[in-house]
Amino acid sequence: MTIKSVRGTHDLLPESVQLWQRIEASARRLFELYGYAEVRTPIFEQTELFARTIGSDSDIVQKEMYTFSDSKGKSISLRPEGTAPVMRANLEHGLYHDGGIHKLYYIGPMFRHERPQKGRYRQFHQVGAEVLGSDHPALEAEVIDMLDRFLEELGATGLRLLVNSVGCPTCRPGYVKLLREELSKRQDDLCPQCQRRSETNPLRVLDCKVPACQPVIDELPSILEHLCENCRQHFESFRAYLGHHKIHYEVVPRLVRGLDYYVGTTFEMVSSKLGPTQNAVVGGGRYDGLSQLLGGPPVQGFGFALGIERLVVLLEETQDSQLPRPDIFLAYLDEQALEESLQLAQELRRQEIFAYIDFQGRSLKAQMRLANRLNSRFTCIIGEEERKSGEFPLKRMEDGHQVTLKRKAIASYVRGNHGPTR
Ligand code: HAM
Repeated sequence: MTIKSVRGTHDLLPESVQLWQRIEASARRLFELYGYAEVRTPIFEQTELFARTIGSDSDIVQKEMYTFSDSKGKSISLRPEGTAPVMRANLEHGLYHDGGIHKLYYIGPMFRHERPQKGRYRQFHQVGAEVLGSDHPALEAEVIDMLDRFLEELGATGLRLLVNSVGCPTCRPGYVKLLREELSKRQDDLCPQCQRRSETNPLRVLDCKVPACQPVIDELPSILEHLCENCRQHFESFRAYLGHHKIHYEVVPRLVRGLDYYVGTTFEMVSSKLGPTQNAVVGGGRYDGLSQLLGGPPVQGFGFALGIERLVVLLEETQDSQLPRPDIFLAYLDEQALEESLQLAQELRRQEIFAYIDFQGRSLKAQMRLANRLNSRFTCIIGEEERKSGEFPLKRMEDGHQVTLKRKAIASYVRGNHGPTR
């Protein structure tokens, strides 16, 4: 039997990689315009980093982490997300010592042992951004504006922005207590997981997707009515700044997110094109207490992560993924002409021209068929005469127009008037 990829993981073949590269390139260019610099943290970390920050009762820590012991018996986990590692790196390298704001972004794989389905994988990829060192609501709106531009630039449409505030250590405990009381009265109407959660982590009940729980959840008190004055003002101000950016949003008091480190503002961007459950393309929020959970000083933080696989689903409909198109296909008639072609290709590539040569020993006719299939912009047939004269016939495939050029003139001709369109 042949060996297959592990369930929940995927190969990205060249046709799909093109779109991924476009997403990554857009992120890098745009995020840098907003002052973000890239950070790369390891793929695995000490398990405790995630257990302490994401929450020991969260689904991620309870059952989704790829955890193993190394040869010294240390518990190691593949990273399920990027925020805790970025904060760890901030503390470890003392970035916060300068008292300034640090805007960081990352692109890379994350790992969660979830039940695979469309839009939910075991190895998936995130583009994420984190701002450390400010709790200004205008910054939160700026982050969302950046995301908005990013998605618009890529052509992702129909996304809804959902926002909420999950309160802070001052106001949340009171609300959680109230939730617990309310939920205790409705135990029989809840799914088994919510029955358990209504004791351990009642906030998570709000996030339940089981149909039977929905009528109960609909009647629960709203967190927004139980925010302290600080949280209330902050949330109002955040919404006003969203208004300045002319960003549409919906306030969803049920939006609590699956990671415990959030305080204050949380948000998601969802698309109905992804189906009813795995519909979030982006998730994020504020996590001012995360640093202290890791034994560090208070460091304010706000950020988001976007799931690239989910974004790709939205974009795939609008893209016709094509492989890179050769600028010039060098077709050769015999072995000596191949040598000439190799040399010419080398010269052209040094001048940023995509020159293509066949290595499957095709006949001239078959080489020309291949040039057509690859949609090459020019072709050049090389035989004895061309070798001797040093002059090459270039045919523009679009209209059959032909010119004969000295080898030195080929690159600028291809690039110049008829330059690469890639
Ligand atoms: P998250 O909501 O767990 O947040 O994940 C963010 C995004 O990653 C999701 O909206 C989704 O697009 C994608 N995602 C999550 N799990 C999977 C999966 N199994 N398969 C495919 N895509 C997935 C975080 O990770 C936080 N670190 C976000 C954040 C950054 N908060 C503040 N800063």
